[in-house]
Amino acid sequence: MSTIAPPSPATGAAAKALRWAGLLWFLIAAVGQTAFIGFIVAYYGVRTATGNFAGWNDKPLIDGYIAGDDAGNIIFAAHVLLAAVVTLGGLMQLIPAVRRRLPGLHRWTGRIFLVIAIFMALSGVWLALVRGTYLSTISNVAILGNAALILIFAALAWRAAVGRRFEQHRTWAMRTFMVVSGVWFLRVGLMGWVVLNRGPAGLTADMSGPVDSVMTFGSYLIPLAVLELYFAARRSPGVALKILATFVVVVAAAYTALGVFGTVAFMWGPYL
Ligand code: HEM
Repeated sequence: MSTIAPPSPATGAAAKALRWAGLLWFLIAAVGQTAFIGFIVAYYGVRTATGNFAGWNDKPLIDGYIAGDDAGNIIFAAHVLLAAVVTLGGLMQLIPAVRRRLPGLHRWTGRIFLVIAIFMALSGVWLALVRGTYLSTISNVAILGNAALILIFAALAWRAAVGRRFEQHRTWAMRTFMVVSGVWFLRVGLMGWVVLNRGPAGLTADMSGPVDSVMTFGSYLIPLAVLELYFAARRSPGVALKILATFVVVVAAAYTALGVFGTVAFMWGPYL
């Protein structure tokens, strides 16, 4: 007869440290995403609600409002306003207390989150390819890759939920959260870099420099890689991977905090 050995005290402590590191990152990200939502509502929400569509361009944008382009303007408005809803929905899905105590709410916000995530990806692709809103080919390829992963991961998260495979659903939902947050990560990544280097070192105006490319592809691939490391460390029976993942997540949390400070101080705050 075989028995399952209880975790050693070292493994228990390492698992606890990893959980705390994950929570630390999530709290910092939640502050930064709440700031993103606040900016969208205060900037785009107020201008759109008061009919000041040309005011979207008060901050630097590639296209934004274009006089006479009704279809483009409507899709741009829907895209930026629903960005606030999808970000709020994603955050709510990750709060364990909501999942446990209000499962009905979790299911509904989950459906809304996935439907809007799909709309964000499709409207983003439309803006990039049909309206032609992009800076460089390489940054366009990067964000189209982000859109493709949103569509694939959202479909897999949905399929697992419908099939009541909840462990798989949670995994795909977390991956979907990471790629849906790609646009937010890009801003945080760029501003963290600017704060660290006290200036836009290696960044070009059309986002085609080497640092830009690491940032545009990295905005969703790096968070996904860190998430996979976190999952693997949680599954691992040993201590080493848990320690490594704890270290990586704490570094990610510190960089995220710098980036959140940078986005609020330099990217959003000045335009409110
Ligand atoms: C699902 C997550 C997404 C969110 C939360 C999001 C959010 C936003 C926001 C807030 C803006 C306004 C620009 C700003 O003020 O910084 C914007 C613009 C834009 N987005 Fe997205 N977006 C998402 C996905 C995508 C995807 C996947 C694509 C492309 C495939 C895309 C393409 C664009 C384009 C082309 C613009 C116009 C940029 C400009 O004119 O400067 N978005 N998005």
